[in-house]
Amino acid sequence: MINIKDIEKIIKAAGDIVLNADESKMEIDSKQGIGNFVTYYDKKVQSFLREELLKVLPEANFVGEEEELHSEIKEKGYTFIVDPIDGTANFTKRFSVSAVSIALLKDGEPYIGVCLNPYTNELYTAKRGEGAYLNGEKIKVSEKKMSEALIMSGSAPYYPEMRELSLKAFSAFFANCADYRRFGAAVLDLCLVACGKAELFYEVILQPWDYAAGMLIVEEAGGKVSTMKGEKLRFDRPCSILASNNQEDYLKYINNLFIEV
Ligand code: IPD
Ligand code: CA
Ligand code: CA
Repeated sequence: MINIKDIEKIIKAAGDIVLNADESKMEIDSKQGIGNFVTYYDKKVQSFLREELLKVLPEANFVGEEEELHSEIKEKGYTFIVDPIDGTANFTKRFSVSAVSIALLKDGEPYIGVCLNPYTNELYTAKRGEGAYLNGEKIKVSEKKMSEALIMSGSAPYYPEMRELSLKAFSAFFANCADYRRFGAAVLDLCLVACGKAELFYEVILQPWDYAAGMLIVEEAGGKVSTMKGEKLRFDRPCSILASNNQEDYLKYINNLFIEV
């Protein structure tokens, strides 16, 4: 049986690798799509996580963003889904808004979610049915409605064909909310909704390693997560995401424009 404390220990060590990154080894390779970067450290953190996580749970499958480590999600049993550095573009610019994200799925559903922002030392944790925590303190979503909502959004930067749709969703929400924020690390956006600093996060397409840990943290904090069409999220392929404090039906603002990908 896995103990969440083991994952916390591992993520803190991974966070130290990010914090102590050596400028001379931060050369950027491009991946597919515009602005999609990978550095020596994305790969290094991922191989560290793979080795350490599989030591504590050897029977688990491991899915990670880098090195095409996209093995199957186990229908029965455990699968880790890991984003070694969420917010790589920020990392390469020393923008200090990036995180390490680890999800553990059990029988295909999120069971544990752990996310660390090493720059601020904020550690978000959740286990299914046991609530969500920031540095050990219980967190919950806010009670604000749309008119007072701060909305976090990702711009789906690696999918130019989705830009139009992103802008339409931005415009539809912006007409009704208090204001917008865009920081560049999806898992941290989700954690900000979970701890009540923002009311809603959406992105028109995102990968499972971007949301698997954060969605559980939001749900365990009392929020709601679905695709932008209101469907259940999947972990075997990318999809859209809308995560909120569940204070109203936010989908109604984008009802007529969203086409699922
Ligand atoms: C990206 C970040 C960004 C989001 C992108 C993601 P990466 O992850 O989460 O906020 O807008 O869609 O791909 O590439 O920095 O791990
Ligand atoms: Ca990511
Ligand atoms: Ca990443």
